[in-house]
Amino acid sequence: MPWRILMQSDVEPYETVMRLLEEAGCELDWWREPEPPPGVDYGALEGIYVYSHMWVSRELMARCPRLKIVSNFGVGCDHIDLEGARSLGLPVGNTPGVLDAATADLTWTLLLAAARNAIRGDHFARGPEFTHYDAAILLGQQVTGAALGIVGLGRIGYQVARRAAGFDMEILYHNRNRNERAEGELGARYLSLDELLEQSDFVTLNCPLTEQTRGLIGSREIARMKPAAVLVNAARGPVWDQEAVLEALRAGRLHAAATDVTDPEPLPRDHPLLEQENLVIFPHLGSATRQTRDAMSTMSVDNLVAGLEGREVPYRIA
Ligand code: DGY
Repeated sequence: MPWRILMQSDVEPYETVMRLLEEAGCELDWWREPEPPPGVDYGALEGIYVYSHMWVSRELMARCPRLKIVSNFGVGCDHIDLEGARSLGLPVGNTPGVLDAATADLTWTLLLAAARNAIRGDHFARGPEFTHYDAAILLGQQVTGAALGIVGLGRIGYQVARRAAGFDMEILYHNRNRNERAEGELGARYLSLDELLEQSDFVTLNCPLTEQTRGLIGSREIARMKPAAVLVNAARGPVWDQEAVLEALRAGRLHAAATDVTDPEPLPRDHPLLEQENLVIFPHLGSATRQTRDAMSTMSVDNLVAGLEGREVPYRIA
């Protein structure tokens, strides 16, 4: 008998995911709109595979008496009611570790692009205004030797810090817990959030979205940052207050900001943030390398199958 899986995705999932699910003997019911779809036999569902970021509620999980596992393609599980899953005794799997390097690389892509006006430079170099070399245009902020403040020094934050060592940076961090490895190996210095904001030339957000980190960076926090600082969000849109960031960018209060994530995602096409030239914005590319996405596919389908077969879920977050 094939396994009946509710596939939460508003687009056609990545080919490796589809191949592995088919090989595992899964048959998919599609969930493409924010609300769980009508016409699905919820009594027959054995797994939920979460490929996008729509909300998986306790109510939905409780509606499926045969449900054995929720498997997430990705590490961030802020779109799943984890408490709800725990209260139902339902395992939830995710894909930690395999995307740390790719997400740290992407954090650095954002940071460097914002610091050195890379996207504006690209547009300028292609446009009619570029008629002669001008040493006074598009001056950026020096990365080498500057102070980097990492908010969220978990697995991904640690990889961001390692890369900073190659730029001779002073590494500052704020985290729920002290990271002794980063302190010992990289000389990272733990600070309160306010101290970190005041002392950093570059601030990267690499924390998960939780009730504690929602709205962590707002106008008050931005006001504490250095005037030519760069603020990078490689976490989740709601970790910063988007309106406060917009206001700061409009006022030239920062050199630039850069983000891989928004709230909602994507932003409405006429959203004013999209007009800010001092914002670098990517469409959630954190883990988007072929190698990483293949590894995430394997891990998430392994988690799914383990749950379906009643085995221990290899990477279990709840
Ligand atoms: C993650 O793994 O959380 C990425 O943001 C993709 O969802």
